[in-house]
Amino acid sequence: MFAPRPKKLLDVGGNTGKWALHCLAQDPDVEVTVLDHPGQLQQLQKNAVAAGLAARLRTVPIDLLDHTRAFPTGFDVVWMSQFLDCFAEPDIVRLLERGRAALAPGGRLCVMEAFPDRQPNEVAGLSASQGRACTFPAWRTARAACTTRRTSST
Ligand SMILES: C[S@@+](CC[C@H](N)C(=O)[O-])C[C@H]1O[C@@H](n2cnc3c(N)ncnc32)[C@H](O)[C@@H]1O
Repeated sequence: MFAPRPKKLLDVGGNTGKWALHCLAQDPDVEVTVLDHPGQLQQLQKNAVAAGLAARLRTVPIDLLDHTRAFPTGFDVVWMSQFLDCFAEPDIVRLLERGRAALAPGGRLCVMEAFPDRQPNEVAGLSASQGRACTFPAWRTARAACTTRRTSST
């Protein structure tokens, strides 16, 4: 992910900042913005101060299911890790659309998910499916819906 030297990263549903802090430590030119509930972000701020990385971190408390709220914009990478699978398909489509709108030209929207139906090991598949509904076909459908809307709205 760091090969093209991205500078501005947006972590959607970044929780208490494991990924954000790792990215900030990786490259002194990187700035990370994290969207999440206020409680998670308070803990993230504490973690960032403790790690000496708070200066390049921005946090935006938000209800991510309020689709009227646009994400901040101009990012080289929008990152959604183990996040979309919390939601129903219509919300996933809207979140992907808002994520795409947050990208700078040439930016990348990266999704990391443990799809329960794509685990080679049966136990891993069962573990990944605990309380989660987003299978790989469901993700493909949501992504296609997002692409179709973009094509028809431009
Ligand atoms: C399963 S955790 C993933 C955390 C992190 N991205 C990771 O890969 O470990 C989902 C995150 O999404 C956040 N989240 C879920 N629903 C949200 C909502 N409606 N508004 C804001 N944040 C939400 C949770 O607070 C949590 O931090």
